[in-house]
Amino acid sequence: MLDFKIFCKGEELKEKIEEKKIINILHKHMKKDIHQKRYTKHQSKKKRQLIEILESRVSQRIFNNDPITDEEIKKITHYMAEVPNSCSRQAIYAIVIDDRVSKELLGGLLVGGVGWIHRADKVLLLFAFGDAYKAAGEIKFMPYLDAGAVLMASYLICEEMKIGTCFVNPNIREEYKKYFNEKFNKGELIFCGALALGKYDKKAGKNIKKNSILIK
Ligand SMILES: Cc1cc2nc3c(=O)[nH]c(=O)nc-3n(C[C@H](O)[C@H](O)[C@H](O)COP(=O)(O)O)c2cc1C
Repeated sequence: MLDFKIFCKGEELKEKIEEKKIINILHKHMKKDIHQKRYTKHQSKKKRQLIEILESRVSQRIFNNDPITDEEIKKITHYMAEVPNSCSRQAIYAIVIDDRVSKELLGGLLVGGVGWIHRADKVLLLFAFGDAYKAAGEIKFMPYLDAGAVLMASYLICEEMKIGTCFVNPNIREEYKKYFNEKFNKGELIFCGALALGKYDKKAGKNIKKNSILIK
């Protein structure tokens, strides 16, 4: 910095000193590789966000009356399509049920939704397109595995959007299946379950989870 004094006077000298200071700061930052540090910090923050979402997610069965907007449904169903799926067939489809009568009906038909599912603002019925599953025997299990990946994505995106959700398994009493199919499944697709969606005031309590699924 002293070198400048030989050549510069007054304002010019001040400017040069400032310039030099900035260059020194830049050099210092470059030595610490501050940009890389910022990048890794950003990456680890992103990682933490996903883990936080996984850890804070719960099945929500109590909802308030706030509606879920079309935009929100679009976003949820968009991310549901991002999931891994068998042979990339992408054979899972959803329909949105939001009228009161249909929701009441589902509340009676879906064994796992009795007593609460009708209070959800919207219910997504998940179906698999059966013709997509060509390998011997796979139709017995593959549609439900594919639906499992979709339902997990829904849980995660809903958690991020602060929307409550709970999956309902596809169990319907044998004698009621014809009513379900007449009303909701005219294309005779494979019904894989339902996702109740709604806003909430109070989040459901978290279930205690085992530490790992690993068998020692
Ligand atoms: C394959 C599957 C089927 C489920 N079926 C139902 C159901 O029919 N009705 C229901 O209320 N919850 C159902 N759930 C939600 C579970 O009860 C819930 O995930 C479990 O109690 C753990 O609670 P948590 O999701 O809050 O961690 C289902 C979840 C999964 C993954």
